[in-house]
Amino acid sequence: MAIFKLTINGQQKQVDVDPATPMLWVLRDNLDLVGTKFGCGIAQCGACTIHVNGNATRSCQLPVSAVGDNKITTIEGLSENGDHPVQQAWLQHDVPQCGYCQAGQIMTASALLAANPKPTDEEIESAMNGNICRCGTYVRIKAAVKTASTL
Ligand code: FES
Ligand code: FES
Repeated sequence: MAIFKLTINGQQKQVDVDPATPMLWVLRDNLDLVGTKFGCGIAQCGACTIHVNGNATRSCQLPVSAVGDNKITTIEGLSENGDHPVQQAWLQHDVPQCGYCQAGQIMTASALLAANPKPTDEEIESAMNGNICRCGTYVRIKAAVKTASTL
């Protein structure tokens, strides 16, 4: 076990965990930030996506020891009132079905738009390609990302 000081959603947090612990479990088990979901555990589904310095990152494959001073944002910290443009567009398009993949989808979409505010259809497809939705909400996701780019 070792102590790690982390910056998460703009707040300083301290955890005492095995250095190899994936951030996914530090968030969920140690910090009670359960919006970040466990899907595959092997960086294949995107359910666990968070931002590290604004970049979409799979927390299931990110050991806490690799985080250092980098700033982590989870779905809980994306916006104060749930009114980030991506969240507004998600509501407008009624995107979620079971909802399980959706936090990861939103974190990937918001990182895309931060880096590329007016993505083409191809750029949206390419950025969202690695986030799997077992309910098949892909058409609505794509439409919502497009809408979010106009908000
Ligand atoms: S749980 Fe991390 S990518 Fe699937
Ligand atoms: S909404 Fe059910 S897995 Fe995507």
